[in-house]
Amino acid sequence: MRLKYKLIAVFGGVVLVPVVLFSISLIVLASMKNSDLISLFRAEPAAKAIFFRLAMMFLVILIVTGLALVSFIYAEVAVPIRHLSEGTRYIAEGNLDFEIEVPKGDDRMADLCRNFNYMRQKLKDSADMTIENEMENRKLISNITHDLKTPVTSIKGYAEGLLDGVADTPEKQQKYLRTIYNKANDMDKLINELTFYAGIDTNRIPYNFARISISDYFDDCVDEISMDLESHGIELTYTNYIERNTKIIADPEQLKKVINNIVGNSVKYMNKEKGQISILLKEADDSVLIGIEDNGKGIDNKDLPYIFDRFYRSDTSRNSSKGGSGIGLSIVKKIVEDHGGRVWAHSHPDIGTTIFMEFRKYEG
Ligand SMILES: Nc1ncnc2c1ncn2[C@@H]1O[C@H](COP(=O)(O)OP(=O)(O)OP(=O)(O)O)[C@@H](O)[C@H]1O
Ligand SMILES: [Mg+2]
Repeated sequence: MRLKYKLIAVFGGVVLVPVVLFSISLIVLASMKNSDLISLFRAEPAAKAIFFRLAMMFLVILIVTGLALVSFIYAEVAVPIRHLSEGTRYIAEGNLDFEIEVPKGDDRMADLCRNFNYMRQKLKDSADMTIENEMENRKLISNITHDLKTPVTSIKGYAEGLLDGVADTPEKQQKYLRTIYNKANDMDKLINELTFYAGIDTNRIPYNFARISISDYFDDCVDEISMDLESHGIELTYTNYIERNTKIIADPEQLKKVINNIVGNSVKYMNKEKGQISILLKEADDSVLIGIEDNGKGIDNKDLPYIFDRFYRSDTSRNSSKGGSGIGLSIVKKIVEDHGGRVWAHSHPDIGTTIFMEFRKYEG
């Protein structure tokens, strides 16, 4: 039975039961021998009229009270239940863009409606996330296809050149082979990055956290980097204000990946004759700050907020001579955040870029 009919039945019960019981009592009283009531009515005809008037007033009060009670229950229970039922139907139909009205007050019904809205919001967030992941996966597949196709096309072209005898001198053959080798290397790097990224995405990076002296770690790191930078004709400045016994909790191998990605970008986007990279380490009370600055081509203000997003490249032409898939800085961000740190960038077009990282000190 619908709630509305149940309430009408309740109303009938509230009014009828007292009336019937009252009438039965009257009949019993009137049928008794020497009934006082009948004697009174016979002796005092006015009393009979007063009695019936009182009975009518009682009936009216009963109806009004019953109506008020039933309307109150209807407003408090039936309306929210109707909204909840409509809401469940919307959800079943896949519509998650609505909000049900929450009754005023702090009672169970209001709680139920609030929780219902919360549940709908959670479902919507999760549905949005699934759509976003789906879109990113599509983008990933189209990017991989493109990024792998470019070197494969070159490798095919140069290999055909060798097979057809176009490369007819040993120098030319050497050049063709070197290009094939470099392109295969590009593919290898891309595949490694993507494999790593697939792991990152599903939180499957096996971190090996350890207590490391940030100063010692960077001293070693800079030794390695400086050799590589020298070969690119880039000057490296290293300033370290961090105490030797200042430690952080980090995975040295993953941290290396972070530094290589940042420095790799500085090299890749260098546009000055005299390239310069500065690494600066400072410490505060409970954190260490690392800044890696270059004097390269810089990043436009409009691109700066997105450079840590997956696949974001300020140079949207994917055929750009710089290559790359826009994964590097998103890997940096993920690793730094998994270390409980944060990373951000400052940049001025044509002047240079600084990437900052902050990690919490290990207080042992
Ligand atoms: N030091 C920098 N100088 C100028 N632009 C930079 C610098 N670092 C990052 N960028 C810009 O930010 C974008 C994103 O960088 P990210 O490292 O994520 O991708 P990528 O270098 O294009 O590709 P990948 O790192 O996957 O090879 C780059 O495409 C570039 O436009
Ligand atoms: Mg990069």
